[in-house]
Amino acid sequence: MVYLDNAATSFPKPQEVYEKIYTFMQESCANPGRSSHRMARVSAQYIMQTRESIAALFNISNPLRIGFTANATYALNMAIKGILRKGDHVVTTALEHNSVLRPLYELKKKGFINYSIVLPRNIYGDIDPYDIAKAIRYNTRLIIITASSNVTGNILPFEQIGDIAKKHGVHYLLDASQGAGVLPIDVEKMNIDLLAFPGHKGLMGPQGTGGLYCREGLKLKSIIQGGTGSKSFETVQPDFMPDLIESGTLNTPGIVGLGEGIKFILKTGTQAIHERKQLLIKRLYDMLEGSGNIKFYSRPENNSGVLALLIDGMDSSEAANILDSKYQIAVRPGFHCAPLMHKFLKTEKTGLVRISPGYFNTVEEIEYTAESILEIAAGSN
Ligand SMILES: Cc1ncc(COP(=O)(O)O)c(C=O)c1O
Repeated sequence: MVYLDNAATSFPKPQEVYEKIYTFMQESCANPGRSSHRMARVSAQYIMQTRESIAALFNISNPLRIGFTANATYALNMAIKGILRKGDHVVTTALEHNSVLRPLYELKKKGFINYSIVLPRNIYGDIDPYDIAKAIRYNTRLIIITASSNVTGNILPFEQIGDIAKKHGVHYLLDASQGAGVLPIDVEKMNIDLLAFPGHKGLMGPQGTGGLYCREGLKLKSIIQGGTGSKSFETVQPDFMPDLIESGTLNTPGIVGLGEGIKFILKTGTQAIHERKQLLIKRLYDMLEGSGNIKFYSRPENNSGVLALLIDGMDSSEAANILDSKYQIAVRPGFHCAPLMHKFLKTEKTGLVRISPGYFNTVEEIEYTAESILEIAAGSN
């Protein structure tokens, strides 16, 4: 199988990820942060090491400001529902994933908040920072931006938007689901107050991992209460990170695997990873560009690693099914949980074929994919 669905979840993972999870589960998979016995201490050390690696990757000075979650969706919910107060206003974009949009819809439906949605300037998803600044109101408390579009791969000017947030005294939540492990993200330099990230995409960890960074001094309300192994006689959830958001037993084997994934990224460098993805996307684009019956929704430049396209007269699911069944190529059709972007693109009926190579794909696999798509496109009319 040629796997080109890395924007959904990365595959394969670095070999060390598999090996570490296997040995950890056999040797010391105890509950971290609860008991003081040796196995629990080993688990706790591993959890701390992963926090430290994440801190190194995103330039976070205190690793304890990072809490683990099951995925990016949980982290985004905890950030959004944790920070917003009644009467607040939020600025976000039409590029966002349902894990941002649905919490906002729900809070608005309850009459709790309001929001403004900034539209992109073109089909690739360019967001003009000026449009973000213009949307800020007297009661805007939060700006939420995706690091890059999960539909088109277009990278947003998230550093400039961080400057705008700082200038206007507005909190800034970056959804790094499409960018963590690929793009340089520095919470200090970019004024990021809250950073939500999945562990299972660009960070190369297993599914069931993710996390939220919350800037020192910023208080969140807890949205899940339970055992943390700390302040057990208090009736309320601890108000300090990471316990505030880490109730219940952690996904320790997953976090241990994630630690190995991030070590691989730190060793390889996000720049090399990004360059590799860009090279693969560019090769694919160059081979497909001449075909008269493919419409592109991505540019190879300023791209985190996605090529979105439609073959004339063919639904995205049909194309993806043929790629899977006839050519053994895995891509993602449909709407990518980004309804507003698909509405903007007028692809609500067809969806888009999203091709997202990973660091480990070869140029030969990409060339085979391009030839397969050209064959399908040639027979589509
Ligand atoms: C931009 C964006 N945000 C959030 C998510 C949600 O991530 P998770 O599946 O880890 O909850 C995704 C997943 O595809 C995404 O692409």
